[in-house]
Amino acid sequence: MTGDLLRLAVIGLGAMGARHAQVCRQMPGVILAGVADIKADVVERVSSELGVPGYTDYQEMLQRLPLDAVVVATSDQFHTEPCRAAAAAGLHLFLEKPIATTVEDGAAIILAAQQSGVKLMVGHTLRYDPRYKAIQQSVAAGKLGEIVHAYARRNATTWSGRRLGGRTETMIFQGVHDIDALQWIVGSSITRVYAEGVSKVLTDLGISDAILSTLRFANGAIALLEQSWALPYGVPTLVDAQLEVVGSQGAAYIDARAPSFALFTDGKYTQPDIILHLPEQYYLRDEYAAFVAYLRGEAEPVVSGEVALDALRVAHAVLQSMRSGKPVEL
Ligand SMILES: NC(=O)c1ccc[n+]([C@@H]2O[C@H](COP(=O)([O-])OP(=O)(O)OC[C@H]3O[C@@H](n4cnc5c(N)ncnc54)[C@H](O)[C@@H]3O)[C@@H](O)[C@H]2O)c1
Repeated sequence: MTGDLLRLAVIGLGAMGARHAQVCRQMPGVILAGVADIKADVVERVSSELGVPGYTDYQEMLQRLPLDAVVVATSDQFHTEPCRAAAAAGLHLFLEKPIATTVEDGAAIILAAQQSGVKLMVGHTLRYDPRYKAIQQSVAAGKLGEIVHAYARRNATTWSGRRLGGRTETMIFQGVHDIDALQWIVGSSITRVYAEGVSKVLTDLGISDAILSTLRFANGAIALLEQSWALPYGVPTLVDAQLEVVGSQGAAYIDARAPSFALFTDGKYTQPDIILHLPEQYYLRDEYAAFVAYLRGEAEPVVSGEVALDALRVAHAVLQSMRSGKPVEL
């Protein structure tokens, strides 16, 4: 870091990486030093829009620019090589979720960071959603009592599956969000999964439209997980997400289709207004603040490589159960 300033570059400028570059450019304490993507037109557009050097070869960027850290926002299956190269160059890593598409690649990224002595944080955005945070804090404070059961869902339109061209499954691309959130909120690891999947719409891509699973946690709680890319294109919601957590003394509910958040604690039902008026991309801004605090040694990573790998392991157990028709123990 140059004094208090963090010099950062973004690798991968698709839907998410372009958003990262924009937010990075506006973050106090952060200098967006460069951007890279294999697509020349994308590099040209983002680098000229933001007024920063652009590269079609991230290796060249790593050699040329003085940097402290990189954001890796390449497609899920291409996280490993940029992470290895940046770690070898002594750069800290802020990596988009999922950590990788295979558990082996995820472990290789963690090892590369450890061997180079660089820090690694993975961007699981639900950790920054005030509603999920409020529920996690209520559970951790014992306000819901003993957690009995939970339900998490993230249903997107067929556009999401088609956009990614069959390169990944809904359970990997978006399921890791809810798996991580559930383990964090329930405060316990998932130890057993059983899943059913269906493919009627995205059959040409060879991926599931939807996967429903039951999860058992080490503390005895159970949960239902619903992940889908089957919503018809045009449904007026990009992501239809919900969360329900039921405890012996309270319950909590999120319905992301509307600004709906409810808590039942201390015998009182409340619907606090905690997400209206937040700035656009607030979760990415909070992620950057958390990453900077981690690099400065002021905080632990919000999601470490190991925690992100745990979520990926569960997602793969769900896929294994769906394919074998049998429960899978973790
Ligand atoms: N946190 C969230 O809410 C959230 C939301 C969407 C996507 N994501 C994650 O962000 C990542 C990117 O997703 P996306 O939707 O932007 O994908 P995308 O396919 O739109 O973009 C990926 C970009 O990476 C580029 N790329 C691929 N290999 C590269 C390489 N070797 N070097 C440089 N660039 C390379 C591609 O050309 C493309 O422009 C994924 O890991 C995804 O899961 C996170």
